[in-house]
Amino acid sequence: MPDLLRVEGLSKRYIATQALDAVDIAVKPGEVVCIAGANGSGKSTLMKCICGAESPDSGRIIWLGKSYRRMNPAQAMRLGIQIIYQDLSIFPDLSVAENIAFHAIQAHSPLWVDWSAGERIAEEVLTSLGARLPLDARLGDLSFGARQTAAIARALTQDCRLLVMDEPTSALPAADVERLLAMVQRLRQRGIAVLFVSHKLDELFEIADRFCVLRDGRKVGEYAPAELDVKQLTFLMTGAEIHSDRTAPVPDTAPVLLEVNRLSRGGQYRDISFRLRAGEVLGLAGLTGSGRTEVALSLFGLNPPDGGLILVDGRETRITSPRDAVAAGIVLVSEDRASQGIFPRKSITMNIASSVYRRIQSALGLIAPGVERDIAGSWIDRVRVKTASSEAPAQSLSGGNQQKVVLAKWLATEPKILILDNPTAGIDVGSKAEIHEIVRDLAGQGHGVILISDEFEELALSCTRALVMQRGRIVHESRGEDLTAQRLSEVVRQTD
Ligand SMILES: Nc1ncnc2c1ncn2[C@@H]1O[C@H](COP(=O)(O)OP(=O)(O)OP(=O)(O)O)[C@@H](O)[C@H]1O
Ligand SMILES: [Mg+2]
Repeated sequence: MPDLLRVEGLSKRYIATQALDAVDIAVKPGEVVCIAGANGSGKSTLMKCICGAESPDSGRIIWLGKSYRRMNPAQAMRLGIQIIYQDLSIFPDLSVAENIAFHAIQAHSPLWVDWSAGERIAEEVLTSLGARLPLDARLGDLSFGARQTAAIARALTQDCRLLVMDEPTSALPAADVERLLAMVQRLRQRGIAVLFVSHKLDELFEIADRFCVLRDGRKVGEYAPAELDVKQLTFLMTGAEIHSDRTAPVPDTAPVLLEVNRLSRGGQYRDISFRLRAGEVLGLAGLTGSGRTEVALSLFGLNPPDGGLILVDGRETRITSPRDAVAAGIVLVSEDRASQGIFPRKSITMNIASSVYRRIQSALGLIAPGVERDIAGSWIDRVRVKTASSEAPAQSLSGGNQQKVVLAKWLATEPKILILDNPTAGIDVGSKAEIHEIVRDLAGQGHGVILISDEFEELALSCTRALVMQRGRIVHESRGEDLTAQRLSEVVRQTD
């Protein structure tokens, strides 16, 4: 079969970074090609060049035999190349049907909009995807998974021959991931090709017809899934073997840092009681809506409980604002990190050091030259931020590297109690292991960590103990032998 898309010798340089270096790939109709590579290896840059959002410096993009020096977004769409951006570019105030049929209706009659035709189009394309959505609902009111499905459906209303998805699952709850992968299978059956980027290597093995591995902007090689396993793929991506140790359990005699006693908040969670001891990494597992994130927000003063007690170091503590929480030694790194404090134009150094200014300031409010850079520099190494310079603006980093900067910024404060909500979403396997190590070190020094995660593997490896929440209550506690990914996955799924 002739190639649908061929990319030849594609290169792109940003000031000091060779983001792509003579990359070749080819995609046939109906093929699912997965692009794997560490944070900053050039995956998004490659996707952007194919969709016309970036111009390559050299090389060629060949679409159905015709050669282009560069694409522009309108032209790429006309040719049948559609991309699903992470922000999904939907219209939250329009209905599901209006969102999906948007382009189709506009194309038919720019002056007169036939919304009933819209419902028909939306229904048809959703059925073809094996998906169901309430057509009348305001799209902005639906879950991220539902909004994403609508965005995919909209892409298909245009003549779509190649669908590009850059990390579609990094913000998607586990239950929705299966649904997304099933949709990708249907696209393949219809002869639509898919370029798929993800750091969750397991799911890549579920859908890939072929892997293309990038490292530092270069193509390492292409592989059939049968040739590889997760370990070998990791090695190809990072050039290193990744070893992960389990965190040792903590004795019941360790001092209690935080005690939560029958904490409740109407409609969200009820009777939540647990203790967090020094040295513990306490996992919180559960589906979206189980109440995990809501409990975490309450501990950080952002979602006041309406009953129960919070005790820090044995003393009853009222936490009604993040300021109270920080004063009590509690820091939360929320899942929504983008909004939580990257200063895009400021340097990486400034971003990381901003959280510790108070600690490094002298009595006169002065910061000794170099201190800032030393602190930031050591964190850049520890979490492996890939950048040409620590003085580069944060916005020049790849998505995963920006995540690392926000994490580093909060880790640097060395809080007594650290709450992490899905800290490694969008972070590559190598850096993930590094972050687990840092969390373990922090606990080893007598801090306490609460780790919310959708990845059972991550919970089983990093936690000393894990609680499973369902519909606002704690329904299970795993420790010791019982704390395995398999077991957590069973409990989370079966309890719902
Ligand atoms: N606008 C930009 N200005 C300067 N450098 C950039 C810019 N965009 C990307 N880069 C650099 O190009 C390299 C590749 O970035 P890219 O976003 O393609 O990585 P990625 O593989 O998608 O990583 P991630 O897994 O973190 O999303 C990175 O080192 C990044 O810092
Ligand atoms: Mg990227």
